[in-house]
Parts: sequence; C-alpha cells; structure tokens
Amino acid sequence: MPKDVIIALDFSTANETLAFLNSFSDFHPFVKVGMEIFYAEGPAIVKELKDRGHKVFLDLKLHDIPNTVRKAMRVLAGLGVDITNVHAAGTVQMMRAALEGLTEGSTNGQRPQLIAVTQLTSTSEETLHNELLIPQPMEQVVAQYAKNAAAAGIDGVVCSPLEVPDVKKACGNGFITVTPGVRFADSSTDDQSRIATPVRARELGSDYIVVGRPITQAANPLEAYKRCLSEFVN
Ligand code: C5P
Repeated sequence: MPKDVIIALDFSTANETLAFLNSFSDFHPFVKVGMEIFYAEGPAIVKELKDRGHKVFLDLKLHDIPNTVRKAMRVLAGLGVDITNVHAAGTVQMMRAALEGLTEGSTNGQRPQLIAVTQLTSTSEETLHNELLIPQPMEQVVAQYAKNAAAAGIDGVVCSPLEVPDVKKACGNGFITVTPGVRFADSSTDDQSRIATPVRARELGSDYIVVGRPITQAANPLEAYKRCLSEFVN
C-alpha cells in the first residue's frame, strides 16, 4: 500500500490556501480539504486543487441519518475527490448508505475511497469515559468502530497512529489507516491528545499521516513537509 503525507489545508480562504501551496514549487502534495475552507469556498476550491494536480481528501466527517448521508455522498462523489469520510458513530447502516451514495454518484466508474472517523484524535481517554459515557478503553472502542466500518464494506478509518496496530489486527493489513495527531518530537501538541511523530507513525504501520499545523504554521512549510516525507515515507 502506498504511504503518503497529507497536508491539512485548514485555511479560511482560497487565496490563503493557494498562496500556501504556491510555495511548494514543483511538489503537488496530497491535501486535505476540511470544513473551514469547504464551507467558505465550496466545491470550487476542490476543483481548483484537482486541476492543479493534487490528490484531495475531502474531510467533512458526515454524521446524520442514513438517507441524508446517502444523498449527500451522491453529490460529493461528483467532485472527483480521492478520499472522503463519515463518522463511524453514525452506525454500520449509515456507513453502508454512505458507500451506496458514493457509488451511485460516481460517473466514471471509480468512486472515492471512503473512510470513517473512529474517535477524534483530540478526544482523551478521560473525556471518552466521563463526558461521552463510553466505559471501554479507547483502543477497544477504536477497534470496534473499525470493525463496524469494515462490516459496512468501507475502505478504512481515521484514527490515531497509536491505534493502527489494533485496527490492522481487527480488520486486516489492507484496511486503510489515515492518521492525524502527528507531531514532530520538537513541536507543540496544540489541541491534539493521542499523538505520535511521523517516524513512530511509520513504525506503527500507518498508511497516510495527516499533518496540519506542524507544516502550515512552520517558518518554512516546504522544509517541514519534506521532513515529514523523509521521516514517514522513506
Ligand atoms: O493541525 P493538525 O495537524 O492538528 O491537523 C489535524 C487535522 O486532522 C485537522 O484538520 C483535523 O480536523 C483532522 N482530524 C483530526 N482527528 C481526527 C480526524 C481529523 O485531527 N480524528
């Protein structure tokens, strides 16, 4: 399975996003379009990024009743993104509906890959137990949500690098793991809780790391991206 670094484009305007990417010269990194930029600029930003040769992970984390998610996914399939996602908490039935919607909406016979968020990497074990009232340990919850995603027939999950071994054990090596919560050994953790370095993410078997602020807020984003590539891919 190809390993890659996905840059989280957590910007609020297209101008800011494209200016950031212009500093990458000949590189066309795999990028993640999240809620902020998508709600600000709409499908046009996705089209612009695809036209510029980027692979796009559209990270809108759908979570609603199955019928609504199915219909929304039909629309998103038309944007030609490479990966998109839902919350596994929406249930197996909702994940199946999402997959059906994506398949129905894909006109070129190739649907985007669909992955499910298990537990957000900002959620700590303490919050899981005391606020969400889920008593099981985090690894067990993540592994169960991953099994639910596999049962729904989708392609993989979003989880912390720390949970990759459990997910691969539960769902097989071909089940994709996309892992945010990545920080260099010498960078700030921000609001992330379950974190690992790019090197550790590689050792743990992650397929894609999603890196936002350690690259977007770096003094030299291209150098930070290259550092991620060299720690994670090579
Ligand atoms: O800046 P940072 O590296 O923390 O960015 C991580 C990105 O990954 C953010 O865009 C965030 O929305 C996303 N994400 C996450 N945890 C998940 C799913 C997505 O941090 N479980």
